[in-house]
Amino acid sequence: MMRAAVYGYGRAGASLARTLPRAGVQVVAVGARGEPARSRAAADHPGAHIFTDIGSQAWRDVDVLFLAVTDRSVSDVARALATTEIPRAVVHLAGSRGLAALEPLEGLSALAMFHPLASLDGHGPIPSGTVVGIETVDLALASRLEALAQAAGLLPWTLRPGQAVRYHAAATIAANHPVALFDVALQLLDDVGVRAGDARRGLARLLRSVADNLEQRPPAEALTGAVARGDIDTVHAHLRAVAHRPDAHALYRALSTRLLPVAGLDHETEDALLRLLASGGD
Ligand SMILES: NC(=O)c1ccc[n+]([C@@H]2O[C@H](COP(=O)([O-])OP(=O)(O)OC[C@H]3O[C@@H](n4cnc5c(N)ncnc54)[C@H](OP(=O)(O)O)[C@@H]3O)[C@@H](O)[C@H]2O)c1
Repeated sequence: MMRAAVYGYGRAGASLARTLPRAGVQVVAVGARGEPARSRAAADHPGAHIFTDIGSQAWRDVDVLFLAVTDRSVSDVARALATTEIPRAVVHLAGSRGLAALEPLEGLSALAMFHPLASLDGHGPIPSGTVVGIETVDLALASRLEALAQAAGLLPWTLRPGQAVRYHAAATIAANHPVALFDVALQLLDDVGVRAGDARRGLARLLRSVADNLEQRPPAEALTGAVARGDIDTVHAHLRAVAHRPDAHALYRALSTRLLPVAGLDHETEDALLRLLASGGD
């Protein structure tokens, strides 16, 4: 049975530590530098050794030490680890940093990034079916992490070395940017008098149906709406209807323009829409 330690008991660390047993991995040590994280770790993992300091070497006998500290702290913790007895494998969760964050340990240990593509709150395990981006140049560690992910019901994506930050930017565009669009749409619904709770519920359902469509078919087939239909009059009416909110107007123009090649319209309609969107619809 693989033995693991998790250092950093925030949202991702807690979710990971709750997930590892699902893959038959024993969590033998959990580290958190402060309260209340340490007490929470002790309550959640009664058999595990709870430690505070990364220098305590509580991971001495583990196969993998997971670092679930904040993105900007990964390199600091790796530097601190480099001055201790080195763990056999060190794996961090910071998708925005990639493997490079463990540079202080290069050549000293097997290293990897293991990034769950989900929003984790620490209250439960990583949901089954979640993609995990893995970046490593160590083939043996890659297979162990892939096997671990599969055994935990996760979907491993092994990235080419050096690609993690681009992968993370893609995830940010898909996961965070719709929140900005959602917020703009809520303002427009507020303008027409829809109550905030109703607006949130209605738009979330709409967004979920789009996500379901996009999982089933490529964007060109999943796209619906005025641009997909080449409906120039409706796009024109929309531009006029949102002109009182400059951010909504700018987003509508930019994103509709980006949808044109997705929609696969005939050239004449595409050109007409392109001109309309470029003019802003005045
Ligand atoms: N949450 C997610 O949805 C999610 C998903 C995928 C990946 N991740 C990645 O997981 C990592 C952790 O994120 P998180 O969401 O769990 O953040 P978080 O809830 O803020 O937890 C981070 C933990 O790291 C600890 N920490 C920070 N700097 C430290 C240091 N120098 N030494 C020791 N402990 C330190 C913090 O301790 P203090 O409380 O004492 O500051 C905190 O307990 C990040 O790399 C993040 O990108 C998160």
